[in-house]
Order: sequence, then structure tokens, then C-alpha cells
Amino acid sequence: MHQVLYISTAPNLSDDAVKSILKQSQRNNPQHEITGFLLYNGRNFMQLLEGEDAHLTALLRKLSVDVRHTGIVRLAHENVRGRICPDWSMEHLRLAESPKERQVRLSQRLPASLSHDLHRMVMNFASLN
Ligand SMILES: Cc1cc2nc3c(=O)[nH]c(=O)nc-3n(C[C@H](O)[C@H](O)[C@H](O)COP(=O)(O)O)c2cc1C
Repeated sequence: MHQVLYISTAPNLSDDAVKSILKQSQRNNPQHEITGFLLYNGRNFMQLLEGEDAHLTALLRKLSVDVRHTGIVRLAHENVRGRICPDWSMEHLRLAESPKERQVRLSQRLPASLSHDLHRMVMNFASLN
């Protein structure tokens, strides 16, 4: 089982555009046993993907040619024992308006088994304005 965390750039996507990415992900991911979460702050995405290596590689290939975002930077690619979010076909972790509230709410929603390093990266992303 592998886990990938990446960020990408997508300035000014509408709520509808983000919703449609989520819908598409939630439709496709169960077939490939991919799970994870997605954050969007109005400029950048952060996405955690987990699944078998071959499935992740195939999805990352699709993501790299998706014109809705650019500049994918992989922050982590880890071999893990099990899934940290088995029930999320692709969960939208909404960012609260105020940065302070964002930190609190997000830490309540992030899976407890998220590694310390990944947790820190997600919280750092959430603290950007
Ligand atoms: C930020 C972002 C995250 C995405 N996440 C996923 C995902 O988790 N699963 C997925 O199948 N497609 C995801 N997509 C869409 C893929 O890039 C691609 O458009 C889609 O998989 C093609 O689906 P189709 O073969 O059903 O047309 C994402 C796109 C963006 C921009």
C-alpha cells in the first residue's frame, strides 16, 4: 500500500469546478481502490492519495495531464502498512475562513493515523493565506 501527498496550482477555480473534480474522483476511485482527501485554498490543491502502487501511478499520470491544475509537486511518497482513510473515496476537507479556526477544525477532521510528517505538511498548507 502506498501513500502520495502532493500540491498543485489552480488559481481561481469556481466552487462548481472543485465539486466536479470531487464527484469525478468519488465515482472513479472505488473501482481502483483509491482513497484520500483533497484541500483547496483558492490557489492550490493538496491531495492525499492512497492505494496500490500501480493504481496510484495510473492516476498520477492522469493528474499530470489534467489542465485544471499545473505544477504538481510531490511532497511524500511512502510505503505504508494500511490505509489511513479507508472510508473516504475522496473527502473534501474544507478550509474555514479564519486561519486560526482552520487549524482547529482541520486537526479534528484529519485521520488520527496520519503520520507526524504528513500531518505537519497538511497543517502548514492550511496556514497559508
Ligand atoms: C486536483 C485534482 C484532483 C483529482 N483527483 C482525482 C482522483 O482522486 N481520482 C480520479 O479519478 N480523478 C481525479 N482527478 C481527475 C483526473 O485528473 C482525470 O480528469 C480523471 O480521472 C479522468 O476521469 P475519466 O477517465 O472518468 O474521464 C483530479 C483532478 C484534479 C485537478
